[in-house]
Amino acid sequence: MTNTLQTKTLAAAIQKRRSIRKLSHSPAISREKVEEIVQLALNAPSAFNMQSGRVVVLMGENHEKLWDIVKETLRPLVPADAFGDTEARLEGFRNGAGTVLFFENQATVEKYQEMAPLYKDQFPGWSLQGSGMLQYAVWLSLSAQGLGASLQHYNPLIDEQVKQQWDIPGDWTLTAQIPFGRPEESPAKRTFLPYEEVVKWH
Ligand SMILES: Cc1cc2nc3c(=O)[nH]c(=O)nc-3n(C[C@H](O)[C@H](O)[C@H](O)COP(=O)(O)O)c2cc1C
Repeated sequence: MTNTLQTKTLAAAIQKRRSIRKLSHSPAISREKVEEIVQLALNAPSAFNMQSGRVVVLMGENHEKLWDIVKETLRPLVPADAFGDTEARLEGFRNGAGTVLFFENQATVEKYQEMAPLYKDQFPGWSLQGSGMLQYAVWLSLSAQGLGASLQHYNPLIDEQVKQQWDIPGDWTLTAQIPFGRPEESPAKRTFLPYEEVVKWH
């Protein structure tokens, strides 16, 4: 697929990516644009180039259905007096344009464990690290297009319902959800640890 996305400089894209949890879906965001963003993000690396990451993009009614599932799953689990806040938070995602669901194909992970038995115990961790890289690439690409997004983890609470609703193969495990849309909030102030505490030079 030829990519027609306008990209900011790398520095601006990295600095401007923030968690945006209040979203809207107007003006509409086309499927083609989201497809280009996801396609670009698939350049993210994976251990042994095993490409165990799988992505399901929900837009429109399917996206809304996901956040209805999350709400009804949480309702009996969250104390009644705190549920208003939960509902408001979920509404911020549901009002968006879509959600990218990230999975890891366990059949791929097992295949590579057999192919490279010396590293067998590393593969589950590498699988999650690869998923994280893919998530970051999608988040960064969405943000670089001026869209708002955040990284959510309602797995494993919602796994079974998601599998049934969207006919997800049995060996795919849900790792994360990125709801996206038009940004409707300014990001909260973010603080950083002192550089010297984080980075050592020799
Ligand atoms: C591995 C990981 C897991 C996260 N899980 C969640 C989550 O479940 N819900 C959420 O709202 N934010 C989640 N976040 C977002 C972080 O809270 C956020 O990125 C961090 O506070 C820095 O803020 P920023 O994204 O605005 O730069 C997660 C981030 C990472 C890297």
